[in-house]
Amino acid sequence: MDSHASPDGLEPLLRAWAEDVDFERLTRGDRLVKALCINPFGNYAPPPLVRGLLRLGKSELAAANWADPGGWRSMVISYENRARQVADKALVSGGTIPTALRNRRRLAGQFLAGLIDRCPHPAPHVLCLGAGPGRIILDALSRARDDAHATLVDLNPDAFPYGKRLAAELGLSDRVRYICDDVRNVERLLDTPPDIVKMIGICEYLTDAQIRDILSTVTAVMRDGGHIVFNSISPAHGTDRFCRRVFGLHMTYRTPQELATVMSPTGLGDFASIREPLGVYHVCVGRKLR
Ligand SMILES: C[S@@+](CC[C@H](N)C(=O)[O-])C[C@H]1O[C@@H](n2cnc3c(N)ncnc32)[C@H](O)[C@@H]1O
Repeated sequence: MDSHASPDGLEPLLRAWAEDVDFERLTRGDRLVKALCINPFGNYAPPPLVRGLLRLGKSELAAANWADPGGWRSMVISYENRARQVADKALVSGGTIPTALRNRRRLAGQFLAGLIDRCPHPAPHVLCLGAGPGRIILDALSRARDDAHATLVDLNPDAFPYGKRLAAELGLSDRVRYICDDVRNVERLLDTPPDIVKMIGICEYLTDAQIRDILSTVTAVMRDGGHIVFNSISPAHGTDRFCRRVFGLHMTYRTPQELATVMSPTGLGDFASIREPLGVYHVCVGRKLR
């Protein structure tokens, strides 16, 4: 991220943390079959035909997207990768976006755990925006120092019972607080300022103005020097037409540099990012400058 490069050596730190991540990769053969057969079919076959095939194969991923395009349920299906239906075995295990989502989960969890461990204050507080069930912060909390805690905010409380069950299984129930609200209300929702803010899986569904609006509120309550973890998305997955026509999923593609430009006026800077191996997502880290 040339024009916004981190002067405090964040990029080498992220690189070192990323080296320990066990990523999923695509072979050259996988890429060729996708480019020549799967993607053209998904992108250009009549949508009613593709939807019919997905219904016939009882795809839970498709049903989750039809009910709530890009919602938390479709994320969880991709993260867990425990497909039961025939259609999902191919779509979830081998699909480029679901595979890249699992890489994003691992990379973001690793960065959050690293940032929590390096936090100079006792009892680091992580604020998760549009958290869904909190899969990624639960990964991080279970790996990092044990005095950290998190506040998870989402407009939609549907994901909370599942998240609370996961938290209980991991012995983290007393370290997470789920709040159903709009993230723009954080000022009145928090009792302690966040040291780290997590914004994974939302920017691609928001306009520039919405991102700035949310972050202006959030940076007002964050500790100075606190970090933010977010992601960019690139159309490198090659299935945008499929996503829009078959799933009703309209995502805004921005590079890490473009996101840094959107976020800079809110007082964030010193951005650095690492790309997961499929090239679909970068996981980015920035810092509150003032
Ligand atoms: C794609 S899901 C991502 C869930 C989770 N962060 C993950 O990566 O698995 C996006 C979530 O953001 C939530 N959301 C969107 N705008 C929001 C807002 N203004 N305030 C709170 N939650 C919001 C949605 O309800 C949804 O659960």
